[in-house]
Amino acid sequence: MSISSSANNDRNSLEARLKIDYLLDIKALEQDDVEDVIDGLGTTPKSLPARYFYDERGSQLFEEICQLPEYYPTRTEAGILQKYATQIIERTKAIELIELGSGSSTKTRFLLDVYRAFNLPLYYTPVDVSGSILRASAENLLTDYPKLKVQGKVATYSQALQQLSTSFLGKRIIIFLGSSIGNFNPTECDRFIEQITTALKPGDYFLLGIDLQKPPAILESAYNDSQEVTAAFNLNMLQHLNNRFQGNFNLDLFKHQAVYNQTEHQIEMYLISQQAQTVTLESLDLTVKLEREERILTEISRKFDLAAMKQYLGDRHLNLIQTYTDPQQWFGLLLCQFSP
Ligand code: AVJ
Repeated sequence: MSISSSANNDRNSLEARLKIDYLLDIKALEQDDVEDVIDGLGTTPKSLPARYFYDERGSQLFEEICQLPEYYPTRTEAGILQKYATQIIERTKAIELIELGSGSSTKTRFLLDVYRAFNLPLYYTPVDVSGSILRASAENLLTDYPKLKVQGKVATYSQALQQLSTSFLGKRIIIFLGSSIGNFNPTECDRFIEQITTALKPGDYFLLGIDLQKPPAILESAYNDSQEVTAAFNLNMLQHLNNRFQGNFNLDLFKHQAVYNQTEHQIEMYLISQQAQTVTLESLDLTVKLEREERILTEISRKFDLAAMKQYLGDRHLNLIQTYTDPQQWFGLLLCQFSP
């Protein structure tokens, strides 16, 4: 039948432009995860790694957060990208675009639009730990961008960057949007930037999205939305732990809290125990005691100063060539060139 065979052809031509590498070493990852949970819950003050937000449900809730009226970063960054995408591509002329934490690749489309409009070829490498989201969004992109080739990696940032440091197709740009860099503490940040520069050749580019310092009230409402999606996102981490490690966290006995730490310039998200309680994670053979009002730190989200970030990147041979921002200076998009 002509209809189904043409559908098959479409499918085939999509598959020919799509390659996905699965690099996640489930065993090694689990070992790390286990250690982090045991350490984080075994020390005072308690903490859990922010990457535990992102199971299937958590990734879904994060997509919902991005649509909230109070959560300005996604839409502000998208506006900046939309406005300056042509400038960025004209300036960099990259043929290889790597995106760390690509998720649904929604904002990336503003860049891909420019390649399509000028009929330029592009290899796009989305990197994400969620294989299902990566595959689904890659297929949508291939349909919408006929000249695009996708070489995705289901991997941690560090796995992907390590592999990318040995295979260069041509002028490269690595993009890291959404101010996800704000979730790293200074030590993790140093290590991450080191890995970025290892995956760049002299003259290559790095495009970084950062959330900027602003009045605490605006920040706090972005992380305490009125629909309580962020609360659900935060609490979901406990559900994720329950599923993963045969735990018995009762989500009703914890409350979401997000506060701006003005000294550290960071939002801190906590889960607060509403009573003295004992929780068990059976497959880890771990028992955790919590006092009433005891907090578990689940995420820091650092808010940056443009000048300080410029200095920080420059010190690491990532020279700032252009800063893009919105009229309110709420969010910054930094285009850097690797000049060792
Ligand atoms: C964009 C993933 C870095 O810090 O704003 C959103 C995640 N946490 N609401 C951020 C998040 C709570 C987030 N990242």
